[in-house]
Amino acid sequence: MTRRAVVRGIGHYLPDRIVPNSEFETSLDTTDAWIKSRSGIERRHFAAEGQTTSDIAARASRAALANAGLDASDIDAIIVATSTPDLTFPSAATMVQAELGMTTGFAFDVQAVCAGFVFGLANANALIDSGQADRVMVIGAETFSRIMDWTDRSTCVLFGDGAGALILEAQEGNGTNADRGILATDLNSDGRFRDLLYVDGGVSTQTTGYLRMQGKEVFRHAVEKLSATAETSLGKLGLTGDDVDWIVPHQANIRIIKGTAKKMGVSMDNVVVTVQDHGNTSAASIPLAMSVGVQNGQIKKGDLVVTEAIGGGLAWGSVVLRW
Ligand code: UT7
Repeated sequence: MTRRAVVRGIGHYLPDRIVPNSEFETSLDTTDAWIKSRSGIERRHFAAEGQTTSDIAARASRAALANAGLDASDIDAIIVATSTPDLTFPSAATMVQAELGMTTGFAFDVQAVCAGFVFGLANANALIDSGQADRVMVIGAETFSRIMDWTDRSTCVLFGDGAGALILEAQEGNGTNADRGILATDLNSDGRFRDLLYVDGGVSTQTTGYLRMQGKEVFRHAVEKLSATAETSLGKLGLTGDDVDWIVPHQANIRIIKGTAKKMGVSMDNVVVTVQDHGNTSAASIPLAMSVGVQNGQIKKGDLVVTEAIGGGLAWGSVVLRW
């Protein structure tokens, strides 16, 4: 028998305020047509004033608990993937833990920017595989609207706020690809590319800073590295794109999503796409897309799902799981 980290529940939360592309036309030299054609984004949600990452993470976590039919006391560990925590410390994860009234177990944040949820999933899988936890909630939550330079049209039109939460539970499998749960993971980073996507401030420099991105360069790395990591994860199982029911990609740009699917030989009919509605929500984009994909009836129990992401670092990776 093989211990597997199996999906038990999923949920998400999006702030009420929806901002269409047209809203940027009044303050920036940009158009709805440019944003849509270059990124696929049509609208995004922005957190209300005073609404923090842990607030929206907690809302997503409650939705996931309800979906799983569990109480907070049933969870052993909370991992929050975020680059926009409320405070320098404590972690957003411990804030969610307190908000849920959970006084046992443990909670911590993972920071791998847009790849954070994939890194969180891989860590949750390791905790379950090693017997350190039976149920782990992995949350991707971001308020990227807080780190936008509203005068920089090349970045501020691309990002949004939101949160998604996935609950993984230890279950026994047969050790084959037919098992439900996480089947393979692949994580990578290369700090030589740190200048391509970063925030030009932080605690140690006593500034907050804004997101800076060399979009074209990141784009170039994205398609190549995303298809490579997905193929590596699938390869560990002797599988290829032909075996995939759903790709749930990081939602940064529809052209990256299409390019990666094409390289993997997977039809766009088998890709969950939410970038038009959410924009790029960094670590929240994958659990948001998974949750929407389940709600829409796209992802079903038993489906083979590949999820992949790349972001600042550069950091990138993929996870193959049977839903
Ligand atoms: O989530 C983390 C990973 N991030 C990503 O994966 C993002 C990767 N990069 C991208 O998605 C794309 O590179 C962007 C959407 C950011 C940009 O698309 P692009 O096709 O690479 O455009 P570009 O940066 O080459 O810019 C083309 C033109 C430039 O004008 P010139 O120099 O050709 O005259 C820009 O100044 O578009 C201009 N431009 C804009 N025009 C209207 C840049 N931003 C805007 C804008 N509205 N908002």
